[in-house]
Amino acid sequence: MANFNEHNLTDEVVRSFANTPNKRLKFLIEETVKSLHDLVRRTELTFEEWNQAIEFLTRTGQTCTPLRQEFILLSDVLGVSMLVDAVNHREREGATETTVLGPFYVGEHHVTPHGANISEGIDGEVMFVQSRVTDLAGKPLARAEIDVWHADDDGFYDSQKADYATHGPSLRARFVTDADGRFSFRTILPCSYPIPTDGPVGDLVTATQRHPMRPAHVHFLVKAEGYEPLITHVFLDGDQYLRSDVVFGVKDELIARVEPRNDAALPNGERVSGPWHLMTYDFQMKPGAGLVPRPMMAAE
Ligand SMILES: [Fe+2]
Repeated sequence: MANFNEHNLTDEVVRSFANTPNKRLKFLIEETVKSLHDLVRRTELTFEEWNQAIEFLTRTGQTCTPLRQEFILLSDVLGVSMLVDAVNHREREGATETTVLGPFYVGEHHVTPHGANISEGIDGEVMFVQSRVTDLAGKPLARAEIDVWHADDDGFYDSQKADYATHGPSLRARFVTDADGRFSFRTILPCSYPIPTDGPVGDLVTATQRHPMRPAHVHFLVKAEGYEPLITHVFLDGDQYLRSDVVFGVKDELIARVEPRNDAALPNGERVSGPWHLMTYDFQMKPGAGLVPRPMMAAE
């Protein structure tokens, strides 16, 4: 067929994929073509706009490095990451809610003893985190693996720093639950932070007059044999950005009250001078299986 026009081109392009052996791939490509063509028709996209889109996506790719994932960030600020999460976690049945993985899961997590300080040498207010991993009925899950990562007092992850190769990792660790499903660690209080604004995704956020902030949170990836891997954050109650997270990741069930404490010792027995904060949050795992995310910027 020839003489393509805006009315018959889409069907012809879809037909061109008819021999794709992988049925799911065929379906995904066909739907992508239909959605993209619809977009062009609905918006009557100009050559200049098409060119700008190509340039934007090119810059997004060029901004990615082994330690920076600008495409995940783009997916996050467009709400695509949360939508993928939503359509894949429709029935939680009382299990802990999920949220975005985010672009800072580098995967370099060393197994760390319970109660350890993962913020050695980093300034900030002391926070102690205690947690328990159970099944839906409250039975403790021993030997569950938990990866933890969060930003520092200035809002940066270790992997965003120039000296990461020599000084990382910090504010990240892996814990393995004890027979009672528990784990705990000492760290600093994370603060709300802007997503990186020095790349194309930052330009998009700025040009559209959105703010770039995420409310303070700690990331958790919980894995236990026979259960769906749980990718989530725990947010700190009271943060001013809880209702306007730039990546739409907040769920009420994931907001923890972080208690101000004045005791002279932390739950691990370590003595502290001055006030500190106690975060207590438990995770309920859903039976099943699922993909564990590969560290996308594998620094392994
Ligand atoms: Fe984060």
